[in-house]
Amino acid sequence: MNTSRAAAASNAAHTRQAPEGVRRHLGALLDTYRPGIALPGAFFTDDTLYAAEVEYLFGRHWLFLASEPEIPEGGDYRTYQIGPWPIFLLRRDDGSIAAFHNTCRHRGSRILQQDTGIAGATLQCPYHRWTYDLTGRVLRCGATGESPEAQRPLASVHVKTLAGLIFVCLADEPPDDFDDMAQRMTPYLAPHGVTRARVARQVDIIEDGNWKLTIENNRECFHCEGHPELLCSLFDFFGEIDEASMSAAERAHYQRFRAAQSEAQAIWTRAALPWQVIEELAGRPTAFRTERLVLDGAGESMTPDTRVASRRLLGDLTEPRLGTLHYHTQPNAWFHFLSDHILTFATLPLERGRTLVRSTWLVHAEAEEGRDYELEKLTSVWNATNRQDAEFVAETQRGVTSPAYLPGPIAAKEYMVELFHTWYAGRLRAALAL
Ligand code: FES
Ligand SMILES: [Fe+2]
Repeated sequence: MNTSRAAAASNAAHTRQAPEGVRRHLGALLDTYRPGIALPGAFFTDDTLYAAEVEYLFGRHWLFLASEPEIPEGGDYRTYQIGPWPIFLLRRDDGSIAAFHNTCRHRGSRILQQDTGIAGATLQCPYHRWTYDLTGRVLRCGATGESPEAQRPLASVHVKTLAGLIFVCLADEPPDDFDDMAQRMTPYLAPHGVTRARVARQVDIIEDGNWKLTIENNRECFHCEGHPELLCSLFDFFGEIDEASMSAAERAHYQRFRAAQSEAQAIWTRAALPWQVIEELAGRPTAFRTERLVLDGAGESMTPDTRVASRRLLGDLTEPRLGTLHYHTQPNAWFHFLSDHILTFATLPLERGRTLVRSTWLVHAEAEEGRDYELEKLTSVWNATNRQDAEFVAETQRGVTSPAYLPGPIAAKEYMVELFHTWYAGRLRAALAL
């Protein structure tokens, strides 16, 4: 059996249509969502809905999991748990990247059992020592005498890279619009040289909240007053700006932003770096958004003094004042690409009310800690911001699960939250044929 047929067979169970009762229940729930209004409380408490989100959103869309520098050498692997699916990413000796279901073809044990490691030339299941090559083929069936040729290979998972970012899709037939996103995003991302970077730091936070609260919180800066460290560099002007309703101090701040923005656009244009907004967070399966944003102060980086944290700039960049190229993907990731470092954020639901947020700081592969950068300066702003966001999410989880919660209006500044809701409801309806 070839690997794609094997993957199809292994995944058949999760592409079945939902039972009629489940469809009716979820249809009634989705009917309670009103555009322009926050999600009703049941969206955070209903276990059937959570199961459908895992199956249809996380199980059938492209998910960002890691960047290439997280598995830099042949044999390097990382394991993940996406809902009920344990999977792993693997770098082969020829440099290619593969993804497999981490489920042994003998009696099902996870084969790779560490979060990260080096596989060597073959993969061996520790339980009864079935051995696989790095294409997933069974080489040996331990001491049982079974014929390896007669066994099914490991089920593969669809994997694609975009300028050094690794995405996977668990569906038999992934959404076919990934390549369109990749083609349009590559000119924005490539100059930041992800494949020539290395991991300086990775921090996992478990937020005590539903994954949708994590994404909603990321898709607006209405709450950014709660991020004093972040606001040293980030201007929080998103969406329609109503200058007329601003106070004198706000207007002065806004005018400073506009002046910095036109100066930055001249720098970006000179450096031949694309900066225009692409706003497609809804209306397509692989929904995304990008924009190069001017930063405050020196305009160089998301650091306490707004200057680069690493004097070794990324890729072949020579201009430090590039602001931040931000990039969002539905349903689980966001990124900042600066001149000196890259931040990737991947979220995965762990339970209905618990969500993993993995933050990774990348610097140029040749940047040396202590010589070119200090870890504290590199990481302090987003470590603080992540802690504050985890608190916002946990407190919102506690509030929205109260029987007394009633959803309120989404503000114009929160329009990306609304786009997330549009995408979310649309994708669930499409999967459930509602
Ligand atoms: S379950 Fe893997 S070898 Fe038996
Ligand atoms: Fe935040």
